[in-house]
Amino acid sequence: MPDHPAIDIESVLKEDRKFPPAAEFSRRALIKSMAELEALSRRAAEDPEGFWKECAGELFWFKPFTKVLDWNFPWVKWFVGGELNASYNCIDRHLAGPRRNKAALIWEGEPGDSRILTYQMLASEVARCANGLRSLGVKAGDLVAIYMPMVPEAVIAMLACARIGATHSVVFGGFSADALRDRINDAEAKVCITADGGWRRGQIVELKRNVDEALKEAPSVHKCVVLKRCGNHVEMRAGRDVWWDELMDAQKAVCEPVSVDSEHPLYTLYTSGTTGKPKGVVHSTAGYLLHVLMTMKWVFDIKDEDIFWCTADIGWVTGHSYTVYGPLAAGATVVMYEGAPNAPANDRFWQIIEKYRVNIFYTAPTAIRTFIKWGDEWVHKHDLSSLRLLGTVGEPINPEAWMWYHKVIGREKCPIVDTWWQTETGAILISPVPGATPTKPGSATRPLPGIAADVVTREGTSVGPNQGGFLVIKRPWPGMLRTIFHDPDRYKKQYFEQIPGVYTTGDGARCDEDGYFWIMGRVDDVINVSGHRLGTMEVESALVSHPAVAEAAAVGRPDDLKGQALVCFVTLEGRRKGDDRLREELRNHVGKEIGAFARPDTIRFTDALPKTRSGKIMRRLLRQIAAGDQALGDTTTLEDLSVLARLREDEE
Ligand code: WT7
Repeated sequence: MPDHPAIDIESVLKEDRKFPPAAEFSRRALIKSMAELEALSRRAAEDPEGFWKECAGELFWFKPFTKVLDWNFPWVKWFVGGELNASYNCIDRHLAGPRRNKAALIWEGEPGDSRILTYQMLASEVARCANGLRSLGVKAGDLVAIYMPMVPEAVIAMLACARIGATHSVVFGGFSADALRDRINDAEAKVCITADGGWRRGQIVELKRNVDEALKEAPSVHKCVVLKRCGNHVEMRAGRDVWWDELMDAQKAVCEPVSVDSEHPLYTLYTSGTTGKPKGVVHSTAGYLLHVLMTMKWVFDIKDEDIFWCTADIGWVTGHSYTVYGPLAAGATVVMYEGAPNAPANDRFWQIIEKYRVNIFYTAPTAIRTFIKWGDEWVHKHDLSSLRLLGTVGEPINPEAWMWYHKVIGREKCPIVDTWWQTETGAILISPVPGATPTKPGSATRPLPGIAADVVTREGTSVGPNQGGFLVIKRPWPGMLRTIFHDPDRYKKQYFEQIPGVYTTGDGARCDEDGYFWIMGRVDDVINVSGHRLGTMEVESALVSHPAVAEAAAVGRPDDLKGQALVCFVTLEGRRKGDDRLREELRNHVGKEIGAFARPDTIRFTDALPKTRSGKIMRRLLRQIAAGDQALGDTTTLEDLSVLARLREDEE
């Protein structure tokens, strides 16, 4: 457990503003009032299994389930005995009616090219890709690594895996070759799907080059499919590498979906934890799909005529759940954008919203803070009147950013859904329901129907209103992770043994007198940089793998734009002295080991790290030093007090 209790986190936020949904919005919403929402929540609390059974009627089953829930703490099965196929639910079931000719995917490339795929076109592409994968020997139960830019083929590849019962493991295109290699090896992927490159701020991100590097030490991969996106030169290894077009052109455009068990692993996705090794979070087919679909309705109020845009990369869980599986299961139209928000200029997002008349827009607080910095004039150049609902995810949104989002983007007309969830939860757990819940800037408001969230002490006792504590979930929910790939023990320890009998989220929170949740940040050694979780241990392992480094400690410092910035304290081997050149070298080294987004913002050299008598690094102190805090509190357990003094003298 962390070396500081959750109750240490003092909530300094005082926020009294309250925004009820506009009558006009509520009138047209799927859930129209607080009374309706509360009735749903009551029903779910009184009879959770009956409630989820009713919801499960929203999916298309090849074989009905015989039992709703099998809860053998901490192992869970939902919809036992049922069979279905995720790609069938996301595509085929829409082909029987008018959705057949509806846009499923509206894609915008960074250079300005665009593509629209109707549900029927998506069906054909997915079938071709599924057949192509089969021809490479991929079978149900195999793992396929996907390392791609934000292009339609990434979605097609995911759905093609689902169609033949293969489990996909998407690796974010911003990860380095080393990080990709580790993820491929942990998953023991048989096939890797990639592209020559992807566009990012006018530059080519050379994905295939990283794959070549990674595959040197990834023996499980025997085939690599390469999409031509940027036309940059790539090496094609004979016998291993095949071009996407050549493979798909040879395939039939129909492919029978494989009927899989409810619990069949749809995908694994790696996320950071408190140790140096990323965890492969495993998600099921039925429970996951149902949960993302229900939240599309409850939280995003999705209607057939809506155009929905979630800006997350599909390398993260938000892209899986709210660009691919949620919207497509709902038969919605989704926008997908390849590049950066400032390419070619700072108004690219607003230009895309105007171009496609986007109705629902879902992004991260760190992006919102960047837009504020760029200035309102970029927004005002565009007509955003199509927007009717706004969402955020990834980190707590500060009330000022919330107000800007509300006023400048939402023109005071759009409800904002501040959605709390995690890679592990699969879908949103705590969020306003836009036609019902009055919002308070900075609060994710209340748990959704069927979600038993609470704030408790380390012993598991509920704390009172406005008391800080650990955010936990007390009952299983359909979208929850099923295990950690290859490491069931870690699943048990990490999530179910920290606090007795419940799922521990790793977040601190407080619940106010209205039952609204205020997330106060992580209570473990995980920091949140620009809405992405980074394990401090991961960064530390990367640093000590450099020959000059003896010991390292990474902590977060509050940052106006990123939420948290990454500060690393480093001791060096032998008599080596730190200088700016080494500093830059270490930052690049972490970038190479993990990916550019993990490059430390600050590296501070020190003679020793402050430790307790038992040898634990005192992160609380380092966090305070990193934040420039003068009142360092109780330091009596410090083994070497002089270390602390030296660290403070050495401020950069
Ligand atoms: C962590 C999960 C799930 C999508 C993106 C991140 C933080 C997420 C909120 C929110 C306050 C939030 C939490 C959580 N977080 N959403 N609305 N308000 N904090 O997924 O990488 O698995 O990170 O992000 O700390 O535990 P992730």
